[in-house]
Amino acid sequence: MTQQTVLTGITTTGSPHLGNYVGAIKPAILASRDPGTDSYFFLADYHALIKSHDPEAVRQSTLEIAATWLALGLDPGRVTFYRQSDVPEITELAWILTCHTAKGLMNRAHAYKAAVQENLDAGEDADFGITMGLFSYPVLMAADILMFKAHKVPVGRDQVQHLEMARDIAQRFNHHFGELMVVPEAVVEEHVAVLPGQDGRKMSKSYDNTIPLWLPQKQLRKAIMKIVTNSLEPGEPKDPADSALFTIYAAFASEEQRAEMRQAYADGIAWGQAKQQAFELIDGELAEARERYQALMATPAEVEGVLETGRDKARAFATPYMADIRHAVGIRPLA
Ligand code: TRP
Repeated sequence: MTQQTVLTGITTTGSPHLGNYVGAIKPAILASRDPGTDSYFFLADYHALIKSHDPEAVRQSTLEIAATWLALGLDPGRVTFYRQSDVPEITELAWILTCHTAKGLMNRAHAYKAAVQENLDAGEDADFGITMGLFSYPVLMAADILMFKAHKVPVGRDQVQHLEMARDIAQRFNHHFGELMVVPEAVVEEHVAVLPGQDGRKMSKSYDNTIPLWLPQKQLRKAIMKIVTNSLEPGEPKDPADSALFTIYAAFASEEQRAEMRQAYADGIAWGQAKQQAFELIDGELAEARERYQALMATPAEVEGVLETGRDKARAFATPYMADIRHAVGIRPLA
């Protein structure tokens, strides 16, 4: 089989939590080590501007997320790791694609429709607070993907529609101008763990139930101690299937450790003890990376340097390809 290009985008808003680590970061880093793939990872900071209008927050999140991926072992020598805003060809392509994207297609985007519905429910004007950035979000995302001729794009369920739109846009472009674009495919990981948060619902910023990935040891322990359990006493058998704590433990455990913990639940392990074991397991997995993370956060120039090298690699591909695209649509030298 020929080399597959896999592209992963990370919006630079907020700070990473354990759910991001288990559900996205860890599997993506593992997958990037497959010799059959040519991986692109980028920080979608222009996407961040849609949600966040706080400059310091955008910068801080960009640094935290870059440091996180590097600390956890993303190898910038093997993959292309860059910042969206460092590759001006992406926004250039976004404009060209905008001129070939039906407005009706964008009207159907879930995120946009949800924002309109919220307005209507609140008795507001349908357009209240909706920027062109939010409306055009899927076009910029299509440009991210098409710019690097990605074959595969790993995404969560909520992004599948955006991938459909990127396919649609690529096909339309090819139909008009010849087969210049690769039509990408979404890859939805079915078996990746969805981590519950401290309250048992899916760990998510919007539920305020997250455990930040890089809490110092003591605070990590405290956060794990706060995971909700029921009132069963030590000695009473407990049901792993009904326990957020077990699910969190299991996401970090080996097959063997999982089986042992299952048995411990049946034998009536005390909740406090089960939490202590979860803490030790999670802390053990993160401790070394946490030190690397802290070192990177203390030397942002180093992170910047990595991203600059990534930018040069990304542009080495994007610049000549963009010249072909520009030519194809008629933006050409006159003589
Ligand atoms: N929209 C994606 C998200 O919120 C992030 C993203 C931006 C992305 N551009 C992308 C993901 C391109 C994959 C490919 O999760």
